[in-house]
Amino acid sequence: MTKLLVANWKMNKNGKECQDFLDTFMAKYSGQRAAWIAPQSLYVKLVINSGIMAGLQNCSEFVSGAYTGEVSAKTFKEMGGHFVILGHSERRQYFQETSKSLNAKVKTALKEGLKVVYCVGETLPERDSHQTLLIIGDQLHQGLNDMSEANAENLIIAYEPVWAIGTGKTASPAQAQEVHAFIRDELTKKFPAFGQKIKILYGGSVKPDNVEELLGQKDIDGGLVGGASLKAQDFLALCGDK
Ligand code: PGA
Repeated sequence: MTKLLVANWKMNKNGKECQDFLDTFMAKYSGQRAAWIAPQSLYVKLVINSGIMAGLQNCSEFVSGAYTGEVSAKTFKEMGGHFVILGHSERRQYFQETSKSLNAKVKTALKEGLKVVYCVGETLPERDSHQTLLIIGDQLHQGLNDMSEANAENLIIAYEPVWAIGTGKTASPAQAQEVHAFIRDELTKKFPAFGQKIKILYGGSVKPDNVEELLGQKDIDGGLVGGASLKAQDFLALCGDK
């Protein structure tokens, strides 16, 4: 499987900074690993125009209509958009998103033809009380409830332990692999035809100096990257291009 690196720029970078990054990145990017970028939604067109797969960091569960402030998956697809990140822990923590409420967004985005990067992850107290797999299992089952198997080929899962996001702490490759193997099993049970092919990304302080070891694990198919995706040189290094 080609490794996939997804940049989650969160609420960072103005238009000029986005364009400067894209110019520097595209000058050296070889394509040996797939690279996708989710900028602030205001700047998705810059990413689309650069030829890189562009994503949203959230979208509405509704397709169109009187939903002030929402962003439509359908409109994004029509303008050339490619994917949406759903269920990031910051959305769960600050915007009251739950696996149940995310289920509607997942289904809408897939129905509109977008790829979905659905994020799951446990907090530190949950890990310390040995509930990691229980929590991840619940997040998977609720978030992907009632999803048709035909759409599973557009699904990507990101395992992001909440305690490793933006903290500089990374799950050890063995800790990450254990959870990825569990996710792979759950997906294969749920989607017998596609479970083995669904990419499972690791996220949480992925950096140039730990990426190779993480990507070397059997069930880690790529990374969802915050901090280290903001500098073109670092994101190039993650993509295997120095
Ligand atoms: P980080 O963020 O790489 O800065 O830890 C990852 C993420 O939030 O997706």
